[in-house]
Amino acid sequence: MPLTLKRQNNIAIVTIDNPPVNAASHAVRQGLLDVVQETERDPTVQAVLLTCAGRTFVAGADIREFGKPPVEPHLPDVLRLIETAQTPWVAVLHGSVLGGGLELAMACRYRVANAGAQLGLPEVNLGLIPGAGGTVQLPRLVSAELALDMVAGGKPISAKAALHAGLIDALTEGALTPFALSFIDNLASHPVRPSTLDKAVNLPVDQAAFDEKVAKVTARAKGQKSPVAAAQAISKGFNLTVEEALQQERETFLKLKDDPQSAALRHIFFAERGTISLERLKGQKLAQIQTVGVVGGGTMGAGIAAACLLRGVSVVLVERDDDAAQAGFKRTADILAGSLSRGLVSQQKHDKMLDSFTVSANYAAFAHADLVIEAVFENFEVKAEVFSKIEAVVRPDAIIASNTSYLDVNALSQTLKHSSRAIGLHFFSPAHIMKLLEIVVPDTVSDEVLASCVAFGRQLGKICVLAGVCDGFIANRIMSAYRRECEYMLEDGALPWEIDEAMLAFGMPMGIYQMQDLAGLDIAWAMRKRQAAERKSDERYVDIADKLCEMGRFGQKSGRGWYIYDGKSRKPDPEVQALILSESSRKGITRISFSPDQIMSRILGRMQTEGHAILNEGIAQRAEDIDVVMINAFGFPRWTGGPMFMEGLSGA
Ligand code: 3HC
Ligand code: NAI
Repeated sequence: MPLTLKRQNNIAIVTIDNPPVNAASHAVRQGLLDVVQETERDPTVQAVLLTCAGRTFVAGADIREFGKPPVEPHLPDVLRLIETAQTPWVAVLHGSVLGGGLELAMACRYRVANAGAQLGLPEVNLGLIPGAGGTVQLPRLVSAELALDMVAGGKPISAKAALHAGLIDALTEGALTPFALSFIDNLASHPVRPSTLDKAVNLPVDQAAFDEKVAKVTARAKGQKSPVAAAQAISKGFNLTVEEALQQERETFLKLKDDPQSAALRHIFFAERGTISLERLKGQKLAQIQTVGVVGGGTMGAGIAAACLLRGVSVVLVERDDDAAQAGFKRTADILAGSLSRGLVSQQKHDKMLDSFTVSANYAAFAHADLVIEAVFENFEVKAEVFSKIEAVVRPDAIIASNTSYLDVNALSQTLKHSSRAIGLHFFSPAHIMKLLEIVVPDTVSDEVLASCVAFGRQLGKICVLAGVCDGFIANRIMSAYRRECEYMLEDGALPWEIDEAMLAFGMPMGIYQMQDLAGLDIAWAMRKRQAAERKSDERYVDIADKLCEMGRFGQKSGRGWYIYDGKSRKPDPEVQALILSESSRKGITRISFSPDQIMSRILGRMQTEGHAILNEGIAQRAEDIDVVMINAFGFPRWTGGPMFMEGLSGA
């Protein structure tokens, strides 16, 4: 039974025990219904204390049940019984108090929490709005503005913030259950307060400012339905009775639950949590990674160092000389200072991170490292030399990793005496923020090293995806493929800004040409020049990007690229248009016009074709992994489920 009922004098203690996250599954709902009926029948029960076993309070409805027909008792019905019970319920909160879990807590008359609890209504992230009264309860406990932020933004708030906002009644740093019992003792001398839904709704302090907030939610949603529906549920609710507001919420919830966007977001929720399920990794002895060495303190090296430090891992960073080492130190320290100034870490944690961070120009500093990651220039010879310098100084059991974006990690492994310790750890920029880590698996890596790197990635809070060795692995290989497709479209009749507009309208954070201009066109140009000799003579090659570089147009940094810039503001450039038109005519191509849908269908088609190739070659293990990569590497809109899900390839 996922629910037990004990008596302690006049208090009924209900404990939900439904691992891993105490989701409000059918059995939990039935158990709650039985308990509320039983305690209401028993006049000796003075209060019901609702607790959860394990690491968290109820973290929401059971998402696994969403694809199936709903089974009674429904959560809203159970919560209304708790809400209107004669015997007051007190929710005792720890861990993640989310979605249906927070609605359950709000249905109780009182809420106490420990300091580590997080409270939120994250349903929007699953393409939903709260479905058990959350949009009606929350603005009766906290301000209308905070209710809007929480329901439409989906981000949880801390217990301290919840106390300040009026969402909980008391907070403890100490043991929770004794605290809750003494809280109930104190209640005995007071009349029972009205239930949440009997309170008046908190109206916006400034209606115009509130409406502006709602408009911002709509603009930011970029095609995702749930945040807009969430904002509307809150704002329309001000003018409805409780019953009408509950009904409005329920109808919207059920409609969204059956919408493809919610199926897509649920697909990604589970895909991100199941990216690695390799038999060969089970039961492996894991290396304890406490000290990481980083070679190169540039953009990536500093980001990787910060990612480690932020998760309590010590870092030794080696650069080419003392000046470069100091520059690497500063780059990393600036990231840590940013985390401090944004309140993400305390002063104490910040200082501790700096104490765990050293830089040097001498590889001997890696003597005690458990893992060394190189992030030097993208050049095979340079990386091979760095690999052998690392191997000469590290412990025999230390792991050696490369952060290369494209290079052959099999060949790089072979430059070591012991290739079983070599692996690719492909972080994305900025490495301390981006959640994705491609773990590139060379043929010779040992199972122990691979398993240890997966555990290390998770220790850093990353979503780890395994990738086979090929040019660009999963993310960059698909990106190269669709970039080529876009170049074909330029010659065939589209213009860069039309392609960018179509991508933005689809929900991508940036168009491909805007992105290239931001990153700079020169690095890719240098790479194309290096690869020119290997290019097949019958391969379709588009020269436009090369010609832009020959004209000194390197992107935003040179004021001109695919666009022309005035500071940061960008405009289509007739010179670029003329160049594109003349290239089409030089190749004898009759230009045709492309609608935004046609542009996106060519881009998606190319992503999917490359995705199939990647799966067939065993570069990706599962179609879901490709979706996870595209969403987390490039901001492919999450609510579509990713390119493979859109094609119906990866399951819901
Ligand atoms: N239902 C079913 N399973 C769930 C679940 C849920 N609501 N939340 C988490 N799980 C499962 C995960 O799939 C995972 O399973 P696995 O071990 O088999 O892979 C396991 O619980 C642990 O989850 P995480 O790996 O994510 O563990 P973390 O400790 O990193 O995070 C968490 C815990 C913060 C609770 C995170 O899992 C989370 O955000 N869960 C979703 C919460 C949510 O969206 N709640 C709202 C649901 S919708 C709802 O309540 C509707 C209501 O209004 C009617
Ligand atoms: P960067 O040019 O910013 O930094 C490279 C650093 O390596 C420089 O500080 C340089 O002094 C140092 N370095 C070079 N040779 C060295 C040596 N022999 N010993 C010690 N230090 C040395 O480059 P960036 O962008 O950080 O890229 C590094 C690696 O990460 C490359 O392989 C790149 O492909 C990869 N990468 C880059 C991403 C990005 O967005 N910038 C994303 C993912 C991977």
